[in-house]
Amino acid sequence: MSGFWPTTGADCGKKVPVTGVAERGRGTTRSPSRRGTDSPLVIGHRGASGYRPEHTLAGYELAARLGADYLEPDLVPTKDGVLVCRHEPEIGDTTDVADHREFAARKRTAVIDDVAVSGWFVHDFTLAELKTLRVTERLPTVRRHATMWDGRFEVPTFAELLDLRRWLAGEQGRSIGVYPETKHPSFFRAAGLPLEPLVAAALRRDGLNVASAPVHLQSFEASSLKELRRLGVVVPLVQLLEESGAPYDTLARGDGPSYADMITPAGLASIAGYAGNIGPDKAMVIPQRPDGTLGAPTGLVARAHEAGLRVHPYTFRAENTFLPPSHRLGSPPAPADFGRAVDEQLTYLRAGVDGLFTDHPDLTVHARSILHTRVGPAPASRQDVR
Ligand code: G3P
Ligand code: CA
Repeated sequence: MSGFWPTTGADCGKKVPVTGVAERGRGTTRSPSRRGTDSPLVIGHRGASGYRPEHTLAGYELAARLGADYLEPDLVPTKDGVLVCRHEPEIGDTTDVADHREFAARKRTAVIDDVAVSGWFVHDFTLAELKTLRVTERLPTVRRHATMWDGRFEVPTFAELLDLRRWLAGEQGRSIGVYPETKHPSFFRAAGLPLEPLVAAALRRDGLNVASAPVHLQSFEASSLKELRRLGVVVPLVQLLEESGAPYDTLARGDGPSYADMITPAGLASIAGYAGNIGPDKAMVIPQRPDGTLGAPTGLVARAHEAGLRVHPYTFRAENTFLPPSHRLGSPPAPADFGRAVDEQLTYLRAGVDGLFTDHPDLTVHARSILHTRVGPAPASRQDVR
């Protein structure tokens, strides 16, 4: 499959060859700290998940066409050791596997990071088997429009995404990056399918293991990031952070920092020893007040910058159900309708973040353009300049 992909809107069986397409963006440097009109970064979260089923080549392609600087895949391995783009190992919620009677016996309960999960698991399928499945929309109630794509797209491999990225960069004449996350790395290491050597090999195969390559690698588990470094990966690394609790590798060892420890000045200095960025839950940057409005910034951005770390919070979505109550539209607000997402994102951009994970890259590009447009008082003719 490497070297071919389905075009947006086309059946997944239709392939477009890429051999021989030059990449004008390849090899160019996009410094994540650069402050131009293409910064802060717009990171297409699982593709353009607000418009297409997540983790599909069609979704990634659309994200790039909507202006995303980076395409974000979550990565898990197949039984035969191939990295594919899925948010979690269980695929019952995002594919039609339940309709495949030949795989009915594969349904089971697995314990992943101490949580029992029932369903079908990527690592019980070879790539060839997985390719017989078709992707379905994860959020069919909120994103009913996206269910029109159910059954159209395959589960993509990481290699296919890298091929697509290169082709799109050439087509658009700009740098388009990838921002992969290693999912449940301790679990897969224990299962004999470690993610890190596969990621390192994929980057090397594509000539992307150079410090200036448009690649960021992210994980909630510091041990995964450190293993990538040990394997000689030189691209920027991103420590993901949650509002509470501790990373699974820390919990499994029985010692190590909690997320609360990691955002202290000492914790951030420690992260800066192996990573260049943090990816916090957006509530860790600007929390909601009890009345549903956005509160004051927590100071995490300033502390991270002080430690030399850039800040890329997750995840920004346009639908009312994902927005703070103060930013919802409609009386009453319909959960699936879009609210004032651009205003929400602009608030974070003005708090100094260096990039946003977004399900709607076009809206984030618009928010960024407002950030760069506003110099002095807002002109009366520009209603969206607040
Ligand atoms: O990787 C940033 C963000 O995507 C982490 O959350 O659950 O969407 O992978 P998740
Ligand atoms: Ca992710």
